[in-house]
Amino acid sequence: MKKIGTLLLTLCCFVETFSQINTAYLDSKKSTEERVAILLSQMTLEEKIGQLQLYSMDFSKNITDSGSAKPLAWYKKYHVGSVINALDDDIVLIQKELGENSRLGIPLLTMIDAINGHSFYPNTTIFPSQLALSHTWNKELMYDIGKITATEMAATGVHVNYGPGVDIARDLRWGRVGETFGEDTYLVSQLGLARIQGLQGDDLASYGNVAATAKHFVGYGETVGGRDATEFILSERHLRTEHLPPFKLAISKGNVAMVMAGYHAVNGVPASGNSWLLNNLLRDELGFKGMVVSDWENYSRLIDTHLVSADEIEAAIQIISAGNDMPMSAYALPEALKNAVEKGLLDEAVIDTVCKRVLRLKFQLGLFDNKSKLLPSAKKNKILANSDHMKVALESAYQSVVLLENKNKILPLDETNIKNIAVVGPNADDIVAQLGDWSLGFRGQGPWQREVPQRTKNHTTILKGLQNRVGSNININYVKGSDVLDANFDEISKAVEAARKSDVVIVVIGDNRLLTGEQQDRAVLNFTGKQLEMMERLKQTGKPIITIVVASKPLILEPVVNMSDALVLAINPRMSGGEAVAGIVFGDQNPSGKITVTIPHKVGQLPAHYSQSPGWHGNGHYIDLDSITKKPLYSFGYGMSYTKFQYGALSLNNTKLKKGQALKGTFKLKNIGKVAGTEIAQIYIQDKVASVVRPLKLLKEFKRVNLKPNEEKTIEFEIPYEALSILNFKNKWIVEPGEFTIYIGGSSRDEDLNLKNIFSVEK
Ligand code: BGC
Repeated sequence: MKKIGTLLLTLCCFVETFSQINTAYLDSKKSTEERVAILLSQMTLEEKIGQLQLYSMDFSKNITDSGSAKPLAWYKKYHVGSVINALDDDIVLIQKELGENSRLGIPLLTMIDAINGHSFYPNTTIFPSQLALSHTWNKELMYDIGKITATEMAATGVHVNYGPGVDIARDLRWGRVGETFGEDTYLVSQLGLARIQGLQGDDLASYGNVAATAKHFVGYGETVGGRDATEFILSERHLRTEHLPPFKLAISKGNVAMVMAGYHAVNGVPASGNSWLLNNLLRDELGFKGMVVSDWENYSRLIDTHLVSADEIEAAIQIISAGNDMPMSAYALPEALKNAVEKGLLDEAVIDTVCKRVLRLKFQLGLFDNKSKLLPSAKKNKILANSDHMKVALESAYQSVVLLENKNKILPLDETNIKNIAVVGPNADDIVAQLGDWSLGFRGQGPWQREVPQRTKNHTTILKGLQNRVGSNININYVKGSDVLDANFDEISKAVEAARKSDVVIVVIGDNRLLTGEQQDRAVLNFTGKQLEMMERLKQTGKPIITIVVASKPLILEPVVNMSDALVLAINPRMSGGEAVAGIVFGDQNPSGKITVTIPHKVGQLPAHYSQSPGWHGNGHYIDLDSITKKPLYSFGYGMSYTKFQYGALSLNNTKLKKGQALKGTFKLKNIGKVAGTEIAQIYIQDKVASVVRPLKLLKEFKRVNLKPNEEKTIEFEIPYEALSILNFKNKWIVEPGEFTIYIGGSSRDEDLNLKNIFSVEK
């Protein structure tokens, strides 16, 4: 009875308080700006600060569990406005308790790392990793993956995706190479844009669209020695030329809703506390109007890691004044900001500006108007990993696989001549290694990691894929043979025995989840455990060896190349990887993937990206490597097919461009082999003489072309005038008159660039 009395009293107070509120911000006919202003004018300082708060739910089943760092009461006390990683019941609970039941009824933004698919949620569609997907050079596919991811996120009540990563990978030692679209600025920009457009659609407010986040602003991919989150020490010129363009495009064409400030420092100032970076460069110069979220605990790092703020108040002032709207996981921030304002150290107007950006995004996403966006959908089970989505996962796995070697055309395997296959190696039957990072939590995250296989519907390991493919026609003798991590695990003799009894050996080696990702940078990039020893012994059997590398990024492949008759690179192909690899091995599909990071012979050659500027004395190689290692093992853009393509008849419709004119042209591409195939034709340009040093060639356009045997197509291309510009000494983008060379071919290697022409830009 007493309880009911208290409840009625609370309800009366609530009704009374609410009736005093001007609810005009709920009127969807008003403009977003009006609604934001009406709402903001009624918010207390604490409520405004609450909108800047963002904390993880840590995948607990219940927010009050120890899974969440703080109890629900704490979230209520600080009016927390956004959460990461909340799923199912947690979402229902927080939208009710912290949103609907709050004084102003402001809905929460729910965010997640749906890096390649909504992959933290059980039984969703998990696409290959970003690096794997970059091998497809397929913008339409990137768009579709974005769309499917958004659809699955929306079905579970999640609004913001922490992706795509548009970092440029320059050093394979870096643990997060697999989270990038590779080493080339143009390719990363294009694929990143397509992904953003797929996620966000035309209108953020429509059901099924989510906010994308371009990350990690900026230069995070090129830190010293491949060491994650160290300082970006290269010049501002380099930052602007190599690393800024993907963000620029994401903002200008993609209208990306969010940008994440990285863990690293730029020009001596941590990215999250760097006002030049976020206020001047990102907002003023690039015109970014959206919301900046700073990476995990970057707030406390200003104090305890980067040592640029003395205490919590100083750090709070620095991080908010620098242009961050939401410092992720900053538990001391609410009190510190309040103290800073109350002590007169921070103007409340700064909080207002930041709070407005958060509220704006909530209105733009339609969270105040469309209640169905706030909760998991009753139909979600029909949506998650449905057959249409799974078809795209399989197709993307197919397109992501790269054929690097095929001696004597051993692939595709001819089934009619094979009775026994030995399948050997630690990654042949390891779905966790095949899924890699960010599938159901990143490395080391979440106790349910052990349940990965059970929580991933329809997955196929390489072994299973091969078994399904050959059915009862061929015997498969599987032996694990060696382990990725445990150098004492030794089944090599058993593997050799299986090889001896077989017609061909398929060896599946690589890395696994503990050798990749954040804080997992590597120095040697070798095949760990007894993997190579196992290969040597298998090679001695004299049986043909097909090597499948299932890894998060290319490792040092040189020793493996020498021991393999065919070499297939299957970068985390994830759930459908087994089916895709088997299909390629047996020729159901022709491989079309091309690598997007240059693969060196030795670690010492890093960074090895193709787009380096000339100037290295000594003919461009290390004297303690033999002359062959002057070049990388595999160049950017390289990948083989079961057919051959012939390039010809390059014609430019204007070889003397006037200011502002695009370069247009055509070339012919013919399939001169016996099977259908897809070629990724690449167009590179060299500015022959300019006022600053430049790379000898730079990718400016690419085309995916499907061709039947003997089919020839005329390919049209257009390079915009601005694409010919360089950043001059005064940090200004200009096109300098003079001659340019255009190269077209199947990879960035000189010998693959068969078509060449010269054009000029007139004064
Ligand atoms: C990563 C981000 C990620 C964030 C939230 C950080 O450690 O650097 O890429 O979005 O965690 O999970």
